[in-house]
Amino acid sequence: MEEISPGLENVYIKYTNLTFIDGNKGIMRYRGYDVNELAEKSSFEEVSYLMLFGNIPSLDELNDFKNKISENLALPQYIHDIIKNAPENADALGIMQTALSALSETYVNYQWNEKNDLKLIPKILGNTLSIVSNIYRIKSKLPIKDPVFDKNYATTFLKACFGMVGEERARAMDSALILYMDHEIPASTTAAIVTASSLSDMYSSLTSAIAALRGPLHGGAAESAYKQFEEIGNPDNVESWFNKNILQDKKRLVGFGHRVYRTYDPRLKSFKKYADKLVETENQKKMLEIAKKLEELGVKAFGSKGIYTNTDFYSGLVFNEIGFPLYMFTTLFGLSRISGILSHIIEYVETQERLIRPRAIYKGPGERKYTQIH
Ligand code: ACO
Repeated sequence: MEEISPGLENVYIKYTNLTFIDGNKGIMRYRGYDVNELAEKSSFEEVSYLMLFGNIPSLDELNDFKNKISENLALPQYIHDIIKNAPENADALGIMQTALSALSETYVNYQWNEKNDLKLIPKILGNTLSIVSNIYRIKSKLPIKDPVFDKNYATTFLKACFGMVGEERARAMDSALILYMDHEIPASTTAAIVTASSLSDMYSSLTSAIAALRGPLHGGAAESAYKQFEEIGNPDNVESWFNKNILQDKKRLVGFGHRVYRTYDPRLKSFKKYADKLVETENQKKMLEIAKKLEELGVKAFGSKGIYTNTDFYSGLVFNEIGFPLYMFTTLFGLSRISGILSHIIEYVETQERLIRPRAIYKGPGERKYTQIH
């Protein structure tokens, strides 16, 4: 008898050489390298190169890759217009999705070609940096401006948003971009693979991924976790809030639990480190204290069930400390994911290309007679 697998749980749709996760031991590696070590010592462009092309680049290869990204920071006027003309209350990730989708319009009679598509990557990375920084600018009532490359991807991005940036914030942004770059095949990456499996173009595949990322069960958790800290409001309220909402009303503690991990999410270590390092204002100190108290209670209550803190518990605090408002959190996640998603698309199309076309088991009515009503 045919059976369905709800949520495609435990269904494997591809082999991968990209990200290894051991959910029981809390290990995560990109092409064999520990993710926290990369987050500490490497850069977004170096790890993007590793994911996309298979190895850590030589210095010449890295500089060449960076130069190519820097040559692709200028956006066509019609993309500026899309960002500028978005309604004032438009969702930041929604604008990103629309801009990426608009870029796909230029692909007429598109045919997958590995060589040409790999050449497109610096353009996609450069364009996406400009799209996301300009979304922030327009929402902050700043004029649209094409970024100017400075040092590396993270610094260029923060300068494009804020005009200036300190060393520590740039390092934290670089690490966040690395830590969020890939996570095997969550809903967003799977959506991109499904689209790419029809041999659609890279921008269309990315648009599918961003659309899936937008849902609150996936990309929105950092924002929801931060809102949870805001709702608690004061470190003195943590215990009573936890007892009432989580233990008594059985609400889910946001930033806790994961489909894959049965222990701490390994990326948490780096995010926690930056949350401690960058904390500055009284409000940030308060939010961090609330988070730490809440984490302690959560682990005590749920640790024995294999439910521990996930990345999103602390990443929002870091994004806030870098200087971003709440509405940008999921879009920053989207920006980080671009090279990971592209790596999966290329891996799938190049090595296991097969149109993804699952089946549904029909449960509706049997044959019925149609009666015309007009
Ligand atoms: N708070 C309290 N209890 C929880 C939590 C939580 N955050 N997560 C799971 N549980 C409990 C469930 O109530 C259930 O208990 P039961 O067996 O007594 O009924 C048990 O743990 C198993 O729960 P499932 O929903 O089957 O676990 P699943 O693996 O499907 O859930 C998920 C994963 C959706 C992430 C869940 O842990 C959750 O809702 N977390 C809160 C939202 C969140 O932080 N999302 C971010 C995920 S990370 C990311 O996307 C980058």
